[in-house]
Amino acid sequence: MSQYTKNPPLNVDDVAADPLEQFLRWLEDARAAGMIEPGAMALATADAQARPSLRIVLFKGLHEGAFTFYTDYRGRKAQELAVNPVAAATFWWDRLERQVRIEGPIHPLPRALSAAYFATRYRGSQLAAHASRQSSVVRDRSELDARLAEIEARYADGPVPLPEHWGGYGLTPQHIEFWQGRGGRFHDRLRYAREGSTWRLERLEP
Ligand SMILES: Cc1cc2nc3c(=O)[nH]c(=O)nc-3n(C[C@H](O)[C@H](O)[C@H](O)COP(=O)(O)O)c2cc1C
Repeated sequence: MSQYTKNPPLNVDDVAADPLEQFLRWLEDARAAGMIEPGAMALATADAQARPSLRIVLFKGLHEGAFTFYTDYRGRKAQELAVNPVAAATFWWDRLERQVRIEGPIHPLPRALSAAYFATRYRGSQLAAHASRQSSVVRDRSELDARLAEIEARYADGPVPLPEHWGGYGLTPQHIEFWQGRGGRFHDRLRYAREGSTWRLERLEP
């Protein structure tokens, strides 16, 4: 059991006025600490009956103040976001004993942005995005492999276009909380709340 004694105190004077800048500092710390996937975030959505679901996605940068990730627009999370366009995300960087929590509305990204990102992906990932219908039930792996082979043949050696059903979302934070472990379970929690074009910064009890 960790004693959470790594971190120096986290005070309101130590953090950036802009939580997005503060987030980027901590993400960089996580990278420097050698975390394998520092951009992995748990993303919670909920269906029309407010039943939650949760999965990991990869953070792919900030766009106009929103946390972006990419996915299939037909999968379960996309269906839930279509009826309930709000989400929560959490990063946990164990090597740093730090957590960041984000909550807010979410929107599909502009097609041009998704296309630009898609073009940077490995060819294998591009082909897989065409071949998979995320979150659908499939009979067995061979059916998927056959579909992938079909897609490979379709595009041969040419460029792979952005699939209609694939793209990004942006989660625009209304709240961002920075948590870090401290000794005796007396952890630090600083939460930013959006107030118009500025942020209110408050300490929460651990
Ligand atoms: C480390 C890691 C990174 C992942 N990154 C993504 C991602 O960026 N986009 C994505 O759609 N799924 C990603 N997944 C898979 C999702 O966790 C999930 O299985 C998938 O998105 C289907 O979720 P849904 O059925 O709720 O829509 C990742 C899984 C792991 C473990």
